[in-house]
Amino acid sequence: MAEEVRLANRYIVRKRLGGGGMGAVYLCDDSEKGCRVAVKSMRRNPDDGSGGRNNWELFHGEFALLKGLSHPKIPKVIEFFQEEGDLYLVMEYMPGLSLQAVMEERDSPMSQKETLDIALQVLDTLIYLHSRTPPVIFRDLKPENLIMNDKGELSLVDFGVAGHYLPGNPGDRVRLATMGYAAPEQCGHVGRSEPRSDLYALGAMMHFLLTGNDPKDHPFEFEPLISAVPYPLSPDLEKTVARSLEREPEKRFPSAAALREVLLCIRDGKQAAPPEQARGWVDGIKKMFGK
Ligand SMILES: Nc1ncnc2c1ncn2[C@@H]1O[C@H](COP(=O)(O)OP(=O)(O)O)[C@@H](O)[C@H]1O
Ligand SMILES: [Mg+2]
Repeated sequence: MAEEVRLANRYIVRKRLGGGGMGAVYLCDDSEKGCRVAVKSMRRNPDDGSGGRNNWELFHGEFALLKGLSHPKIPKVIEFFQEEGDLYLVMEYMPGLSLQAVMEERDSPMSQKETLDIALQVLDTLIYLHSRTPPVIFRDLKPENLIMNDKGELSLVDFGVAGHYLPGNPGDRVRLATMGYAAPEQCGHVGRSEPRSDLYALGAMMHFLLTGNDPKDHPFEFEPLISAVPYPLSPDLEKTVARSLEREPEKRFPSAAALREVLLCIRDGKQAAPPEQARGWVDGIKKMFGK
């Protein structure tokens, strides 16, 4: 039998859950508490010119940001440590499959009802993030970063590029969002993300769920849903997705709460209130302009 790998003399590695270039995420047993945890690792990379300080700061930033959050659909952080030059972030394990894996396992796109249910769940979490002081922008919303459990509940993971929204900030500190889901304002010479950038990513994700066409294949190009979806879709949903995907943030919904209200009306077959009258709309504008 292979030798057991133990981190910090406490976390026994059971399985690799995912990850890429700079590190990986492992399912571990916490031998002290007797529970399962997810441990994300990152190589320190002393060759990047900063002696490894840069990715230490970035990764520690992910830990610090998560530590300030408390939401049932966001993993709680447990600790951050360094061992043999690598960095580790220990957090709550969210069981399930990534939404990307769910899409790959089924052979058809999702129905309008399934898509609305997913988008509404994600919006609840975005509303929580955007209503922090200062607001937290997730910046990398995509199916790989959502985990669906066997009850169909979705958790949001990977706060690696998330950050605080500080109006007047000259530009994003980290610019590693995913092409296809990243809003145009995140992708220029200087990335300038804001809360509505997360609504663009959600629009891209709804488009993907409804059509099965991966936005990473053609960033910024979205076939109109009317021709891309094989069944009759609510015209209001078509318009809502198109509006979420507007290139200019000003043309999108002003807040996650405003988008949620519109999606709730579509789900419940109700006439959506004119946008200016929707409560979330007004709240969003007030928050944005500090009124
Ligand atoms: N807290 C967690 N619980 C369960 N699975 C997780 C957790 N965090 C990450 N994962 C899994 O590991 C994968 C990679 O983690 P992520 O934080 O997204 O790393 P990366 O920065 O490499 O994208 C995710 O897509 C998800 O499947
Ligand atoms: Mg990820």
